[in-house]
Amino acid sequence: MAYRATLILGDGIGPEVTAATQRVIEAAGVKIDWEVARAGLGVLKETGNALPKETLDSLIRNKLGLKGPTDTPLGEGHRSANVELRMKLDLYANIRPVKIIPGQITPFKDVDIVVFRQGTEDIYIGEERWVDDAHTIAEAVSRISKFESERIFRHAFEYATKHGRKKVTCAHKANILKLTQGLFLNAGRSISARYPDIVFQDRIVDNMAKELVMYPSEYDVIVLTNMFGDILSDECAGLVGGLGFTPGANIGEGVALFEAVHGTAPDIAGQNKANPSALILSAVMMLEHIGESEAAKKIRESVYQVVFEGRVVTGDAHLLHRVGKPASTTEMTDEIIRKVQS
Ligand code: NAI
Repeated sequence: MAYRATLILGDGIGPEVTAATQRVIEAAGVKIDWEVARAGLGVLKETGNALPKETLDSLIRNKLGLKGPTDTPLGEGHRSANVELRMKLDLYANIRPVKIIPGQITPFKDVDIVVFRQGTEDIYIGEERWVDDAHTIAEAVSRISKFESERIFRHAFEYATKHGRKKVTCAHKANILKLTQGLFLNAGRSISARYPDIVFQDRIVDNMAKELVMYPSEYDVIVLTNMFGDILSDECAGLVGGLGFTPGANIGEGVALFEAVHGTAPDIAGQNKANPSALILSAVMMLEHIGESEAAKKIRESVYQVVFEGRVVTGDAHLLHRVGKPASTTEMTDEIIRKVQS
């Protein structure tokens, strides 16, 4: 049976890593009819819209998508296509697993964390305004609801139950932001009462940031509001060999959209240097989501084996034993495909 999914190529390294990922999925024997759609700065420049209606329609129709990263200008310009996608498609759960791949150089052992970032609320809603006419003071709204907070905690606890995880940590700033962050923490407390077999604990987010670089193996599932989740999931990526290896999923009640944690990497875009692993591992999450567990396992193991051997891996990876020169995106993809087919 062929599945149907939307493919957003994105900007920067997006077209390179999406092409690599399509090839690996095909090599694993899963047939997907890709409906190519556009989002980001490239399509904005051509059409004046960073997230065309056809792209949203395609995702709603297919309920499944894979996305390359998209550019958002700093301090000016259009609203992020990612934020729009999450808000318009109600992609409330941004799930980012972080795990050491054997063969990577890291000061830690056994890091295996799943970050649950609430995807549709908080300061990320982008409601900003000038306070004075001279535009010397600005302010932003952080909106957090009981409904969404409970929904993300429920999702995290259900995930923990299904995957045999033992501990859920809420990271927050409820000591200072007593209403918004307090509401989030209280939602965690109230949902946790329904899951007596899973330990629930909380950490103030600044302490959490320190804990992650000192004792990451102590943490299991971590649940955060949107902005803290964005920042701490990149920190987590740094614990396990960088952004080139960190996958992600945006899940809603209707649509599931899979994308790496990394951005468009403008410094290496178009040079065939990007590490395709993060998007390939995002596709592994997508295959698990649609029930293609065998193919997912095969691809994950193939990526892990390529990293462990260190012969054909892109330059961003810090490896225990790198053999020879850094590989290109295409070479690393070819090597992963060889393992998938072996
Ligand atoms: P970035 O993730 O694009 O790059 C940070 C650093 O990591 C760079 O040195 C880059 O070369 C490296 N890197 C990232 N992915 C890599 C990969 N697959 N292989 C090898 N090296 C990799 O973050 P940055 O520079 O902060 O953002 C650049 C653009 O990406 C911005 O326009 C930003 O808005 C956008 N962005 C988009 C995201 C998305 O669409 N999901 C997520 C994060 C940023």
